[in-house]
Amino acid sequence: MIAFTIVILFICYVNTAKSSYCYWNTGCPYKYLSTETPYSSVRGDIRDSIVKLTGCEPVSLWGIYRHGKRQPSTHFGRMMKEAISIRNYVVSSYEKGHSSLCAQDVENLRNWEFNGSFFDGKQDITEEGRREMIGLGKRLKEAFPTLLNNLEKDSYTFRSARGPWIEKSINHFVMGLGNGNLIIDASKADLDIMDPYATCSSYQKNVQNNPEIFAEADKFLNTSDYLATKDRIQRRSGIDYTLSDENVTALYDLCRYTWSAIDDKLSPWCALFTKDDLQVLEYIQDLRHYYKNGYGTSVNEIFGRIPLGDLVQSFENVKRGDGKKIVAYVTHATMLDQIYTALGLFRDNEPLTGSNRDRERKWRTSKISVFSANLVAVLNRCVKEGLSDYNVVFYLNEEPMRSICEEGVCSWREFDSKLRPFINTTIDFC
Ligand SMILES: *[C@@H]1O[C@H](CO)[C@@H](O)[C@H](O)[C@H]1NC(C)=O
Ligand SMILES: *[C@@H]1O[C@H](CO)[C@@H](O)[C@H](O)[C@H]1NC(C)=O
Ligand SMILES: *[C@@H]1O[C@H](CO)[C@@H](O)[C@H](O)[C@H]1NC(C)=O
Ligand SMILES: *[C@@H]1O[C@H](CO)[C@@H](O)[C@H](O)[C@H]1NC(C)=O
Repeated sequence: MIAFTIVILFICYVNTAKSSYCYWNTGCPYKYLSTETPYSSVRGDIRDSIVKLTGCEPVSLWGIYRHGKRQPSTHFGRMMKEAISIRNYVVSSYEKGHSSLCAQDVENLRNWEFNGSFFDGKQDITEEGRREMIGLGKRLKEAFPTLLNNLEKDSYTFRSARGPWIEKSINHFVMGLGNGNLIIDASKADLDIMDPYATCSSYQKNVQNNPEIFAEADKFLNTSDYLATKDRIQRRSGIDYTLSDENVTALYDLCRYTWSAIDDKLSPWCALFTKDDLQVLEYIQDLRHYYKNGYGTSVNEIFGRIPLGDLVQSFENVKRGDGKKIVAYVTHATMLDQIYTALGLFRDNEPLTGSNRDRERKWRTSKISVFSANLVAVLNRCVKEGLSDYNVVFYLNEEPMRSICEEGVCSWREFDSKLRPFINTTIDFC
């Protein structure tokens, strides 16, 4: 395994060190695409990673999930559709010998098939998104067979936030559990614990729809770090057309949205970028989400406490004997980011800023807010010397999270002291 890894690292090193780098055969494409990263690029597998504790059995699962891969929204879809014409400049520049892109990369881009309805802003998940959500449900069931094989009425809660792509995501998740007649609750039009910010008008005004929130991301567009990237894209493709920042974003989105992880097909649009370029563009997204959903704006922490309060109460009900075997909420990346913030996870010592890209930063949307990203807590009942005791294990994207509690297992007392304060969180500032 180690030797194999070394070989891979070596191949990657040689490839990136070559002066004419080809995308199509790199073997090691950079796969971290911020919130548009395919789930399969970062997920673990709960069937392998489940923490088995002697004398304990899982008695309840509580989880919050981001929807699966979706089609681009109307705005971004329109920008991407318009940017497709840049392909003609890329091809003709190559034909004139002005391009340093590889022949096969240009050919793949030329042969890339345009599918108009994909960019029409339909609020739907993609085939990849459907499969990701089914796969998640299926693997959970295989990892927790005794718990999930027979879900009687009232032993579960499945609910999503509003929106066709989110509702379809939970449908497929539940389908993956493979248990005939499970009922999915209707999503709520008013306040819900899985997206309390959505109905909060002050948040909508001051954060979600406030362009000031992106000030650091905008500032970054003036750094040499970003300008070198823009220049590199322009020079490698050799096009006469002068790319604006909006064009770069649209091309990046084309790369991210037309990457097909289910059949392991890279997007030829990604060939316009080097790995360094993709890292720079990833940082812009991290900045945007850090200020909109994370530590950059203090109110996010408060919203994050609300679903965590639901988690403590849910497990407490189980301990009292009238809880659920599984609770699953499907929602937006915003909610997951806010929960991480409330828990103090992925917090950098210094705030992220537009003037300095910290390559070792902890806040990486490509790891924590990808399509189908999920945080699942498992309540275990342990019997020792005839007495029942409980503990909680957290999983992020199907890998145990070691950073919440010592060794990744929270004693009930630790769990309770961390999360109980979140019960009754008020958002009267809304
Ligand atoms: C490039 O961006 C500009 C705005 O900055 C826009 O007007 C133009 O239509 C874009 N070009 C393409 C081909 O998308
Ligand atoms: C085009 O996109 C739509 C919407 O995503 C999808 O349903 C359809 O299968 C796609 N068609 C082809 C030929 O890929
Ligand atoms: C970026 O630089 C331009 C030109 O120097 C300046 O007008 C603009 O305000 C700067 N933008 C930010 C966000 O700092
Ligand atoms: C939450 O509010 C309820 C009702 O007001 C109260 O009974 C309960 O003790 C509160 N819980 C916490 C942890 O503050």
